[in-house]
Amino acid sequence: MADVLVDVLVLGGGGREHAFAAGIAASPRCGRLFVAPGNAGIAAIATCVPLDPCDAAAVTEFARAEGVGLVVVGPEAPLVAGVADAVAAAGIAVLGPGRAAAELENSKAFTKEICDAVGAPTAAWARFEAAGPARAYVAERGAPIVVKADGLAAGKGVTVAMTAADAIAAIDALFDGMPEGEAAVVIEEFMTGEEASLFVLCDATTALPLATAQDHKRAFDGDEGPNTGGMGAYSPAPVLSPAVEAAAMERIIAPVLAEMAARGTPFRGILYAGLMIEAATPRLVEFNVRFGDPEAQVVLPRLESDLLDLLLAAAEDRLETVVPSWRSVTALTVVLAAQGYPGRYAKGEAIGGLEAAAALPGVQVFHAGTAAGPEGAVLSAGGRVLAITALAPSLAEAQEQAYRGADAIDWPGGFYRRDIGWRALAQEDDDA
Ligand code: AMP
Ligand code: GLY
Repeated sequence: MADVLVDVLVLGGGGREHAFAAGIAASPRCGRLFVAPGNAGIAAIATCVPLDPCDAAAVTEFARAEGVGLVVVGPEAPLVAGVADAVAAAGIAVLGPGRAAAELENSKAFTKEICDAVGAPTAAWARFEAAGPARAYVAERGAPIVVKADGLAAGKGVTVAMTAADAIAAIDALFDGMPEGEAAVVIEEFMTGEEASLFVLCDATTALPLATAQDHKRAFDGDEGPNTGGMGAYSPAPVLSPAVEAAAMERIIAPVLAEMAARGTPFRGILYAGLMIEAATPRLVEFNVRFGDPEAQVVLPRLESDLLDLLLAAAEDRLETVVPSWRSVTALTVVLAAQGYPGRYAKGEAIGGLEAAAALPGVQVFHAGTAAGPEGAVLSAGGRVLAITALAPSLAEAQEQAYRGADAIDWPGGFYRRDIGWRALAQEDDDA
């Protein structure tokens, strides 16, 4: 089979998709590589296509016309829009769940019901479709307590309320101005512990844990400031030890996947389990139905095996026989964002130093939000603009090298955190 080239289409245009594209392009089995819509960095290794990743008909038509053998879906929106269903229905292999299984990210309440059905450990919860009963529940339970919007956009709609007044304000804000029946809220028990993520590659019957990672969601040093999509990450995550990973697989991932299959909606793709770990015991915070961003930029570069082979095996239900190998290195990535992100920020600023950063030993530069300018210029085109990853034998060395890379970038309009990895490094010091 090794001589049969496969043409691949990756959907998305961020740092995660650059990491996918880099891994796939390195495969001897990779034929033509398309990314829709891609970005300036991806354009150096793939053909960028101006397709809307959420337009199922357009994606399917393109894949069919070009003879694409595998579609890899990066973000969640196309999955929730049913793009994987449409591609699969056209007889084309696709990495990513169908619309029904994407409910594991789309609906907090759906995930909670599945967890309850199989006894998977997670925070106690209740769902309300009106503010009054939700307020009453908060009054009864007290704070701290967690208030979440149900449905997509829910990523932004999470309030970890330290007082009942904050929780009630969050509930009122969610229902304010919404027509009856349009808004719903999930209220959860507040869990304590340390958060880390487990990425599991799934076909209809096999779940293969890939790797662990931790990200930094707050904009500023010391985990201060507004929540973002992630300002940096490292892999592996020390707190998610092999024993904790095994417990998460046994008590959370395997039973949930079995339940999804039993309901006739098996999950195929990358299951991202956000876990809260306390006393070496994992509980589920949330699922995502895709790779994390920037977690993909630290997990995928650690893979030694052929990424395209691995993704094809998952898409074709052949994972059972696959044992991927990993480089014994730590990876750390630093995100360079536009000043003002996650609020308002400027676009179209020239970015220099990209070659100098990429030339450093162990450093890879992933583009997250860039566009090609005149005469080969690279311009900022998003909130998160670059992710600078370094691979090294230890976390401390990976951190040092990633910051050398970030410091080599010439972009006065950008900013980045100086402390990515601090928690794991502090833990290493404690253990020493
Ligand atoms: P989510 O969108 O569900 O991942 O929530 C965003 C963030 O809120 C998580 O990464 C946690 O830091 C925090 N969080 C969510 N649910 C809980 C919970 N039940 N207890 C404590 N923290 C939580
Ligand atoms: N870095 C968090 C996410 O991808 O959702």
